[in-house]
Amino acid sequence: MVKKPFIVGNWKMNLTLSEGVEFAKSLKSKLNRKNETICGICPPFVFLRDICSVLESSGICIAAQNIHSDKNGAYTGEVSAPMIKEIGCTHVLIGHSERRHIFGETDSFINAKIKAALSVNLKPILCVGEKLNEREEGRTEYVIKNQLKEDLKGISADQTKELVIAYEPVWAIGTGRTALPEQANEVHLFIRDFLTNEYSRDIASSMCIQYGGSVKPENARELMAQPAIDGLLVGGASIKLESFLKIIEAASGN
Ligand code: 13P
Repeated sequence: MVKKPFIVGNWKMNLTLSEGVEFAKSLKSKLNRKNETICGICPPFVFLRDICSVLESSGICIAAQNIHSDKNGAYTGEVSAPMIKEIGCTHVLIGHSERRHIFGETDSFINAKIKAALSVNLKPILCVGEKLNEREEGRTEYVIKNQLKEDLKGISADQTKELVIAYEPVWAIGTGRTALPEQANEVHLFIRDFLTNEYSRDIASSMCIQYGGSVKPENARELMAQPAIDGLLVGGASIKLESFLKIIEAASGN
């Protein structure tokens, strides 16, 4: 099966509502319909409804940056999976390193969020990645394996069809320091081996594993040329339309 590259822009806490809507309109009009990639954006919560209506039937995926694990309840400031689904989102980022390390999210919370997303047919993009000290101490594989084991507890083989995994080394996020393409590929292979052992070879090879961390127009092609990299999760370079389009173009091999 040929997998189309899946290129997603994570806007984090950037742009204004009008800038976001303009971005979405231009993205829709500039994306070549025959594009060899599938692309998506993750706007802040309060832009989602407007952007979902701009991008309706465009084929562009829209992801929330986070959800709570419960459907409803007394959780001031939180947003649930059914709320995000109802307004038209297709995907949700779960376990981004900024959520893990700035907001203290645990693997068991992340696991519950994945289940909450799947229960309403939202596709989770599960982010995993090691910190700099963990890499330097030679613990990258140990850390990634633990995250995957805990985060995917109770997720069935059938449910993996809806799941995307993003490998985002924490030391490469927002630092300008990209993982070498071969370094990223190595971890992607490790993730694929994990999925083979946990599920099956077919499932592991059909799943999309994205790379994220200082992706730019200049390095997108080289990263996508790695055999185990199926897509990109782009932060800073995704909030300028021109650079995001260049990354999409590079990923499609044009
Ligand atoms: P940067 O591309 O800004 O390094 O961010 C990556 C990221 O965190 C995407 O989720």
